[in-house]
Amino acid sequence: MLLSLTGCGGGSNADGLRLDLDKRDPERLLRFYLGSYLGSDGGDAFEAGVLSGEGTYRLHPDKLEARWRPALDSANADGDGRIDWDEFVDFIDRTYADARNLPPMLDAFRSSVPYAESDSAWFTVEIDGVMTNARRHIFAPMASLRSALEGYQANDEQLIYPVGTALVGEHRLDGDLAETTVMQKRADGFWDFFVYGADGALASATATEPRPLQSPIQCIGCHFGQKLFEPEKSFPAAAPDGPFGPRGIRVGSDMRNAEIVTFFNEHAKRSDTVLGLYGTLFVSKLIADRDAGRLASEDASLLQTLGF
Ligand code: HEC
Repeated sequence: MLLSLTGCGGGSNADGLRLDLDKRDPERLLRFYLGSYLGSDGGDAFEAGVLSGEGTYRLHPDKLEARWRPALDSANADGDGRIDWDEFVDFIDRTYADARNLPPMLDAFRSSVPYAESDSAWFTVEIDGVMTNARRHIFAPMASLRSALEGYQANDEQLIYPVGTALVGEHRLDGDLAETTVMQKRADGFWDFFVYGADGALASATATEPRPLQSPIQCIGCHFGQKLFEPEKSFPAAAPDGPFGPRGIRVGSDMRNAEIVTFFNEHAKRSDTVLGLYGTLFVSKLIADRDAGRLASEDASLLQTLGF
């Protein structure tokens, strides 16, 4: 009796496993990661009993679906009754893609999310940024972007994208597709992060220079963090070159409106863990269109909703 209470025997005692992640804001991280194991919508890991605590947290393997437990046991192979960051990463690496039921091939993903160049249903922008040396081609669904902008005031001046929204970043080297990175919004409010390689298969990390980014662990590191990155940080001014080459958001002067950049403060605020400036760029463009006397009426009312 006493033995089982003190946690001997590894995984499944009633007290669960102590999580020693040694991370800033562990609750948010844990909500994201463990919510990932609660079905296609994600879910609340505290409500589900998978997670407990405040300040220090415990994971309750008996509340997870049985199919995830072997990976957890193997992550906790030393059986010390606690999970440190490396053990946690090991568990996530082994199970996340299955838990999220990610489409195994880019083609399959693309049949449900048909993004395409010069399709007016998609807002597109090219960036030389921090994730890769490759040129990034970003695709954001127009309908989601409009919805986030329409809800800006109601959402306490945040850009919150609708559930199901997919933001896609293609990495192109000399015009060829080298890999594809995706964020897709779940019903629990978090996004899933994933990567397809040049061969079109789901990959555990990016492969372009200057360094592989492990998915989803490293993705979350930046997207949940506070650090400001170039070229977003300097925009609309030009960004200084990075250690691996030039950086910039490749848009014309119609999308460089300092007033709108300040208004949304989109990169620093990173509402919804989105780091790019899609609201800023789109609204800047609409204002330029209005100045040029060619604004559609639905766009005029969007600008009005925002107070411009
Ligand atoms: C070094 C920090 C960093 C890491 C690591 C990182 N990102 Fe990003 N990500 C950014 C920044 C900055 C942007 C906005 C500029 C851009 O697209 O280059 C961004 C943009 C994105 C976008 C477009 C939506 C948005 O937030 O603007 C997607 C999709 C994305 N990242 C997916 C991923 C995935 C998947 C991973 C992990 C494999 C990842 N990111 C890792 C910094 C990072």
